[in-house]
Amino acid sequence: MTVGTAVQLRRVLPARQLRGELTVPGDKSVSHRSLLFNALARGTARIDGILESEDTRATMHCLRALGVRIDEPGEHVVVVHGAGRGALTEPDNVLDCMNSGTTMRLMAGALAGLPMLTVLTGDGSLRRRPMGRIVRPLTALGAKISARAAGTLPPIVIEGGAIRGGQRVETGVASGQVKGSILLAALAADGPVTVIEPAQTRDHTERMLGAMGAEITRDGLAVTLTPPARDLTAVDVRVPGDISTAAAWIVAATLHPDAEILLRNVGVNPTRTGLLDILAAMGARIERLEERTVGGEPVADLLIRSAQLHGVEVGGDVVPRAIDELPLVALAGALAQGPTVIRNAEELRVKESDRVAATAAVLRAFGVEIEERTDGMALHGGGRLHGGRANSVGDHRLAMLGAVAGLLSGEESEIEGADAVAVSYPDFWTDLTRLSLS
Ligand code: S3P
Repeated sequence: MTVGTAVQLRRVLPARQLRGELTVPGDKSVSHRSLLFNALARGTARIDGILESEDTRATMHCLRALGVRIDEPGEHVVVVHGAGRGALTEPDNVLDCMNSGTTMRLMAGALAGLPMLTVLTGDGSLRRRPMGRIVRPLTALGAKISARAAGTLPPIVIEGGAIRGGQRVETGVASGQVKGSILLAALAADGPVTVIEPAQTRDHTERMLGAMGAEITRDGLAVTLTPPARDLTAVDVRVPGDISTAAAWIVAATLHPDAEILLRNVGVNPTRTGLLDILAAMGARIERLEERTVGGEPVADLLIRSAQLHGVEVGGDVVPRAIDELPLVALAGALAQGPTVIRNAEELRVKESDRVAATAAVLRAFGVEIEERTDGMALHGGGRLHGGRANSVGDHRLAMLGAVAGLLSGEESEIEGADAVAVSYPDFWTDLTRLSLS
């Protein structure tokens, strides 16, 4: 249970039991895309189950500043009135993407082929995140785009330009945001554009653009978009629950000795289920119930029970499929029997915080011994957690990591910067209270 009312500081008590059912909030990646893609399309689209959080608000604000009408008729429902890409208008101010890398990178791709000036900026965290990874390929496609620090950091200035088709672009980094940015620019190209990624990343962009009428084909790690002759067609979207958000409860229930939790309506797109694969390899007991497809995305209910885990080696293709969940995997490794190593995860260093350093700091606050590596982390396993005071460093995933560690620890804990959860899961602290008996 959680007590204390300070916004920044939350007290977390050890949970005696974890029990209950929950529908986790809408998927962040799908929510951003449903807003942006429908804004580029022609027609009216209703989005049900959308994530209402700071990150998705950032996308909505930017789109409204570009002249898009978005209505909010009810809780978790928005209606986007798309009039086609060409109907976007030059904003009279810079666009603030706040903490959201997805907003900035996807927006840059969408704007790359439009003849107007836009400037994208964000908060202190976002202004430290690498943007050369989109500036370079968008420039190669013909866009006029520049950024601070020799084209590597926000703010980004986009002046549009003619996007040249007939090109193959290598992303060089396994990133769903970079792939998405290039595919959005390709909508304005004068011929097909192929994006090649080093490992498969989340494919929500391909699924949704395909449903809207874009011709998209995949050949191994190469995705080709042939620009449609006319605007995309708006589509209604039912947003599945976010597995990256569910991850906090999945890991908490797995590691707690007395837990049984049912999570309803969780998106289980195979490009996102790396955590489930890693936990299965560690010995977790997670059942997928009622598997179904909702709005082009696979969905299931997940029943999670306590389990004794053993350590695991994590690396290679599973990393992009579990990228946002790796801090929680490290926690699982701390409590599992035997060593756990996470490799090939250098991308963690350039998330909302340096998530290698920040995960290590949070786990150390609970008494965990953890080795930081350039591309990941190593843990001995077999540990137990004592109560601690952990700092989210303003990163939503780290606030949730600290809270889960607090539930599993032997004593009371405190999380500083607890309100960071608002980026992706504003009701996190309420749900924590609902699921845990102290
Ligand atoms: C996202 C992709 C991931 C993930 C982020 C959301 C997306 O980043 O970390 O939270 O919606 O495309 P990458 O660009 O590293 O794949």
